[in-house]
Amino acid sequence: MCQVKLIVSNWKMNLNVSDSKKLIKDLIKFSNNNSIEHVVCPQFALIPSVSRLIKESKITLGAQDCHHEKIGAYTGDTSVQILKELNCKYVILGHSERRDYHSETNELVKKKVFLAISEGLKPIICVGESIEDRKSNNYLNIIEKQLDVCVPNDYNNVVIAYEPIWSIGTGQVPTNKEILEMKKFTYNFLKSKKRIHKVNFLYGGSVNSMNFHEIMNDTKVDGALIGGSSLKIIEMNKILTFC
Ligand code: 13P
Repeated sequence: MCQVKLIVSNWKMNLNVSDSKKLIKDLIKFSNNNSIEHVVCPQFALIPSVSRLIKESKITLGAQDCHHEKIGAYTGDTSVQILKELNCKYVILGHSERRDYHSETNELVKKKVFLAISEGLKPIICVGESIEDRKSNNYLNIIEKQLDVCVPNDYNNVVIAYEPIWSIGTGQVPTNKEILEMKKFTYNFLKSKKRIHKVNFLYGGSVNSMNFHEIMNDTKVDGALIGGSSLKIIEMNKILTFC
């Protein structure tokens, strides 16, 4: 019996209304695998139509971000409340693209994480280092700081997505040894400092149908956060029929 894997499709700012409908309809055909929980995270404007289409399916809905306040004068932002009304169960928080292009800090991510949890959404907390931090051997300090600030104490069932920035969209994937090092480091840190014993550790960064099985088998991570490949039905067909 296979360990259940969490596969998170981060569509980022891709797909129009008709292409997203077509992709979802095709994905529904491959969503009968009991060994996989598949979470689809579309951009905000696509969420209502995707939510309607997946109603009778096993696909779960997620968002790519949320605001850190419940409600108010925050032009252009989206509230947790609306995400819940639209049936989102997960929300990706602290993605490096939010940190880089929207100057999100660990402190801001922490506020979002707390709000999401208090409102009943499951945060997928992203951590990852730059190539400079990797090369200078400073990467564990960066990850430790991100985990320390962004992850609340005593919150079990936490989902951490390790996405090294240098691997996102580049085709460069860390070795399985490097992924394992980060998985162990994350578990040990969260257990000792935050008293968290149930951690779902995902790997993200250039995951595709060719490397997915090996990463899952060799590192025993709990799943993957997938960008580019999540837009391609041929790729997702192979990934979602894992084991
Ligand atoms: P890619 O799979 O395109 O490298 O993107 C990873 C990612 O950022 C998912 O959140």
